[in-house]
Amino acid sequence: MCGIVGYIGFRSAREVLLKSLKRLEYRGYDSAGVAIVNDGLKVEKKKGFIENLKVNFDGTLGIGHTRWATHGVPSDRNAHPFVDCHGNIAVVHNGIIENFMELREELISKGHVFTSETDSEVVAHLIEEYYDGSLKDAFFKAVSRLKGSFAIAAIHRGERKIMAVKNESPLVIGIGDHENFIASDIPAFLEYTNRVIVLRDGEVCEVSDDYVRVYDMEGREIRKEVQRIEWTVEDAEKGGYEHFMLKEIFEQPRAVDDTLRSLLARTSDHWGDFQRIAIVACGTSYHAGLTAKYVIEELLHIPVEVYYASEYRYRANVDDSYLAIFITQSGETADTIGAARRAKAHGHRTLAITNVVGSSITNYVDHVLYTNAGPEIGVAATKTFTSQLMALYYFAITSAERMGRISHGRYEELMRSLHRVSYWIEATLNLEDRIAEEARRVAESGNMFYIARWLNYPIALEGALKMKEISYIHAEGYPAGELKHGPLALIDDGMPVVALVPEDRLYEKMLSNIKEVSARNAYVIALSSREDVEKYVDTLLRMPKVDPLFTPFTNVVALQLLAYHTARVLGREIDKPKNLAKSVTVE
Ligand code: M6R
Repeated sequence: MCGIVGYIGFRSAREVLLKSLKRLEYRGYDSAGVAIVNDGLKVEKKKGFIENLKVNFDGTLGIGHTRWATHGVPSDRNAHPFVDCHGNIAVVHNGIIENFMELREELISKGHVFTSETDSEVVAHLIEEYYDGSLKDAFFKAVSRLKGSFAIAAIHRGERKIMAVKNESPLVIGIGDHENFIASDIPAFLEYTNRVIVLRDGEVCEVSDDYVRVYDMEGREIRKEVQRIEWTVEDAEKGGYEHFMLKEIFEQPRAVDDTLRSLLARTSDHWGDFQRIAIVACGTSYHAGLTAKYVIEELLHIPVEVYYASEYRYRANVDDSYLAIFITQSGETADTIGAARRAKAHGHRTLAITNVVGSSITNYVDHVLYTNAGPEIGVAATKTFTSQLMALYYFAITSAERMGRISHGRYEELMRSLHRVSYWIEATLNLEDRIAEEARRVAESGNMFYIARWLNYPIALEGALKMKEISYIHAEGYPAGELKHGPLALIDDGMPVVALVPEDRLYEKMLSNIKEVSARNAYVIALSSREDVEKYVDTLLRMPKVDPLFTPFTNVVALQLLAYHTARVLGREIDKPKNLAKSVTVE
């Protein structure tokens, strides 16, 4: 849940590390630090954003870290890098060392002095304990003692190399000419190189100016493929937008089109037929899964169950075999990876939908569908959500046709709609000014509801999550028919209720539910393509008219804009909401 970086070469390590950390800030921003070899080993680390870190030394070899606290409060002393007792070795770590308490006690009994409350510090002292003139040897010995999830990088003041290891936390190597990079994610070094080695779990690397060697845990060298990344640095930067989130909202027409194009380019989908499906994910990806449940049930007429990954992991194995689909934009979410391992261990066929090529989840499943949204930096998921929907709709439509559940005519009609999604999203983006006006009213409230039915119910949940996450307004999504069973008691004069009212088979029912909240003096903001809805609500956001099955794509974009502009009125840190991080690599 942190970002780590490393550089060795001929440039200013200070500049490379600070720039790279800035690009990883989405992974955590409680504190940051760097260690650079320069006539000894120098370390600077500080609580707060990377901007707070003032580094007045330099060199050409170093490591850095941006933190999202797990063990130990955010503070200067809990910030990384950590050094050993003599200041010879520096270490950065992303993940959790599960056995750190016992290692810490053992090291203390041998005379090591600890300066922080973190689990990570044990690694620096363990390497020190084993060091006998070779960082590589000591690193292997230290890492063999660790249990848990970790990506770790270490340097020694007297050796020109970086040692690093990956186990259940991401780590990639950037290959340059007479320089090399390591990082938790590719955008960190994309400015310098697009040649990348993606490490797998249990791999250790030794990185010098002129070579990169990858080993297994027993120290046997492994041949690794160098991949070329097609994104540009601009793809990973703001491009004139005030926030990454807004840029990413506006990138959605391209993201869904690129995703569809890459899906259509696949030559075959090998997961065969199935009679049941379980979808497993967290957060926004869970909402994509819940939307897909309605679409798959509608088109395939088979039961679909949707689970939070953190719950699925620990349930009893009571079902016959099914196709288990894991949705995770980052491919690094610990709960989702744990759930995928469990499904595989129980013999279910597994398919992952992820945005990151070679991400950890791909190691634990039988099949992978990639979304092609490009890097998403804002903590709030936007373009990866609509790209996930695109992949899931594609999956549902193509499976329904292959399994003979829909006619060829219906298949062609649905595929035409899939191709139109980007235009429908464009049309929704044109509502931005109107939505921004509405956001000023919403920003004055402390609580709000989102209501919808059928396949827009998950979109109500997603709209509420976006609002909570970046504006800190308390917002809840509900199936519209459920309010009268309790939550209606919470409606107060002027409380905003966002109602999704597509022209589908539940249109009339939605109008009745709107009347229930209006009668309690709620301030109803409706999203609908039907003009006549205006007479039942306080304000109508006139949505483009789209095929009813595809309304989640347009409604969610409008709700992303509503959350964004509300948070902007309130002056929130939109790309870096408090207490959150982009990738949640801890359980
Ligand atoms: O990378 P993942 O899709 O597995 O992430 C899952 C959630 O952590 C993520 O969707 C989170 O809820 C977002 N910040 C929501 O905007």
